[in-house]
Amino acid sequence: MSDDAGGRNIVLGGLMGTGKTTLARRVAFRLGRQWVDTDELVTQRAGRSIAEIFASEGEQAFREAERLAVADAAAPARQVISLGGGVLLDPDNTRALRRGGVVVLLTGDLKVLADRASRSGVRRRPLLAGDGDPVQRLRELAEQRRAAYEAAADHVVDTTDGRSVEQLTRDIVVWAAAQPDVLTPEERRVVAA
Ligand code: S3P
Repeated sequence: MSDDAGGRNIVLGGLMGTGKTTLARRVAFRLGRQWVDTDELVTQRAGRSIAEIFASEGEQAFREAERLAVADAAAPARQVISLGGGVLLDPDNTRALRRGGVVVLLTGDLKVLADRASRSGVRRRPLLAGDGDPVQRLRELAEQRRAAYEAAADHVVDTTDGRSVEQLTRDIVVWAAAQPDVLTPEERRVVAA
């Protein structure tokens, strides 16, 4: 009999367009967990969109608000947390998230990511707004972020390799089930059913 009570958070990070929000919501639903999104927390608290925060107060102010949201999101157990793409660049954020959870880094083909990110709106993605080529912009961000993302990741999942959302959800849950202290005994029963 194992004494693994589980309950560590499952945290999804990575570039814009990798499907963090969609997959976090699905994984949470599958496990009966609370789903938390750091962009949602920031915009709810500010009462404004991310684009508005960037425009009126600048990126620094957004990152400050994001840091507070991450600290709050990371504190409780048994959650699935989707992160804004820049969260894992701050080592304090990464430390807080890894203290109580495991980090799954979502990656993929930059053309597909740019297409998804542009389609689902630039109101939350001012870094992709403007006339520049979004693929080129994402490539620059990927280069700048590679080391921080890799340092944070417990597991890497390509979300553009042809797997469906259902399949990706299942693969993340199966991976989580194989990690110590992540799934509770009840969640393990749900996954095995
Ligand atoms: C950002 C990604 C966005 C949002 C903000 C900044 C980034 O979230 O937090 O526009 O720095 O990559 P998504 O990754 O959910 O699009």
